[in-house]
Amino acid sequence: MASKQHRNIVVAPDARSLAETAARRLVARVNEGMGRAAVCLTGGSSPEGLYRLLAENPWRAEVPWQRVHWFMGDDRFVFEDDRLSNMGMARRLFLDRVGVPRANVHPMATDANYPEAAARLYEDELKAFYGADRLDPERPLFDLVLMGLGSDGHTASLFPHSQALEEREHWVVGIAKAGMEPFVPRVTLTFPALASTREMLFLVDGAGKRDILGRVLGGEDLPAGHARADGDLVWLLDRAAAPEEHHAL
Ligand code: 6PG
Repeated sequence: MASKQHRNIVVAPDARSLAETAARRLVARVNEGMGRAAVCLTGGSSPEGLYRLLAENPWRAEVPWQRVHWFMGDDRFVFEDDRLSNMGMARRLFLDRVGVPRANVHPMATDANYPEAAARLYEDELKAFYGADRLDPERPLFDLVLMGLGSDGHTASLFPHSQALEEREHWVVGIAKAGMEPFVPRVTLTFPALASTREMLFLVDGAGKRDILGRVLGGEDLPAGHARADGDLVWLLDRAAAPEEHHAL
């Protein structure tokens, strides 16, 4: 993994404009080509504003729903109708509202017997979609990967001190014990799989994130700081989350 990558930091004045900026970037990415596009979603509360916007015009009309595929970067090991489910949330907020073809939504099998079994199934599904077993940096798996930042510095379900942080072979792994609430097992893409994207977009909002964000951007050894992308790496913050020195951006 390359040790340094240029990252763009974009500061939006508030949460609404953060969601709009994210929607604009998503629309631009999925309209870059004329063929199939792939977006890897994230859970937590940070992307909720974006997901709501995608179900509304003008954004809704600008997404070529027939040819965009929706994956999830990590999920909680609960049934999809559980309020903790990340894919359940994405379906409620936009996927089910806009008539996405069923085959274009790729949930993790969180009804498998155990998280590692779901991870193996999802890895197979990603490889089948990609059409190869090895990721080629010249041909990223995703057009856009959305990421969040936890208050302990985790991203996706890659928690501090977890072995999963070092995973280089598997694209997806099961996490028996979450490092943070909700304490349910997780299934998560690994850094190499998340990196296989034209753009990785972190969404971070709220004053509660300011300290941890300052530590990650300051270079402390925290999971989110290990994230890399084959393409662009963008941190989209709202002003409340942005550490002082980034306010003028
Ligand atoms: C999850 C997430 C996780 C999330 C961060 C930030 O399933 O919990 O995917 O990595 O992005 O914890 O969550 P908030 O946006 O709720 O702060």
